[in-house]
Amino acid sequence: MNPPGTDNIFQPKIAVIDRVEEEITEVKTFFWHFQDPRDQEAFRRFRPGQFAQVSLFGTGEFPASLPPSPTESETFFTVRQVGSATAALHRLKPGDLFGVRGPYGNGFPMEDYAGQNLVFIAGGIGLIPLRSCIIYALHHRKKFGRIQIFCGAKTPQELIYRRNVEAWTRTANVECHLTVDRADPGWQGHVGVVGSLFKKPGVDVPVQNTTAFVCGPPIMFRFVIKDLSAMGFQANRIVSTLERYMKCGVGKCGHCCIGVAYVCTDGPVFTFDQIQKLGEDI
Ligand SMILES: Cc1cc2nc3c(=O)[nH]c(=O)nc-3n(C[C@H](O)[C@H](O)[C@H](O)COP(=O)(O)OP(=O)(O)OC[C@H]3O[C@@H](n4cnc5c(N)ncnc54)[C@H](O)[C@@H]3O)c2cc1C
Ligand code: FES
Repeated sequence: MNPPGTDNIFQPKIAVIDRVEEEITEVKTFFWHFQDPRDQEAFRRFRPGQFAQVSLFGTGEFPASLPPSPTESETFFTVRQVGSATAALHRLKPGDLFGVRGPYGNGFPMEDYAGQNLVFIAGGIGLIPLRSCIIYALHHRKKFGRIQIFCGAKTPQELIYRRNVEAWTRTANVECHLTVDRADPGWQGHVGVVGSLFKKPGVDVPVQNTTAFVCGPPIMFRFVIKDLSAMGFQANRIVSTLERYMKCGVGKCGHCCIGVAYVCTDGPVFTFDQIQKLGEDI
């Protein structure tokens, strides 16, 4: 193994689990740090919307978004267990080791949005990549116009980052609206798909000088894009992240290609007009 600080781009750096928190069923947040402080310092220059390759020794690697904002001190991943590599991560306990390569990808160009209104629309675990931008925007509150957050989940039990989301609903100068598809007896809030929040009494979404961030399952994405287009949003003012099978994460293997675009290096953040030009069927 190369010593820390050498630059074999495929060699993960060794990371240590600090603590694990259960978000919702099968989704956990893993707080971690690099063993070598130099790796930690280099990694912490990430941008909202970037991702990393997570290595589970003897099992495999997978890409995961970076949900913290670079303005926060803790580093963490939030991961749904779906197959072998994510299951291996879910078995890790505080003190266990794993590997991380990155940060990779373009990320959201947050500086370009200065002076604009920001509208965040998240469905389910689509809030993972958006969390970083939301916290970043709140930590630079004066740089932006209105900030609106619309979060949807199937049920109240499937709402991730509950502490953050509830805090956003109480934060001055932020308009945060929650909805669930199916309520339970304890749910006092809105019921309906996330797009139904746009028509809720008292909600007005500014279209001029606004960027809309949309992340969620494909069905939610399709309906929200229809709603935003009907409201007058141009395709170049809607941004999202694309998920593709990845291997290298650094533009070498071609596994993530859509037409001429490498999702790992040209993305994962794309505007909706870029997504349309790629011929992506969503
Ligand atoms: C840029 C990027 C960021 C991501 N961020 C996160 C994150 O923050 N949190 C999180 O939980 N997941 C995230 N994912 C998805 C995550 O990478 C996959 O769930 C993971 O690769 C599954 O690995 P596995 O070995 O556990 O499952 P596998 O055994 O490889 O697959 C299990 C099942 O998941 C499906 N699957 C695997 N990978 C993908 C994929 N990329 N797209 C669609 N379906 C897939 C397979 O078809 C199969 O049905 C991200 C993906 C990308 C490309
Ligand atoms: S994952 Fe290898 S080129 Fe993108």
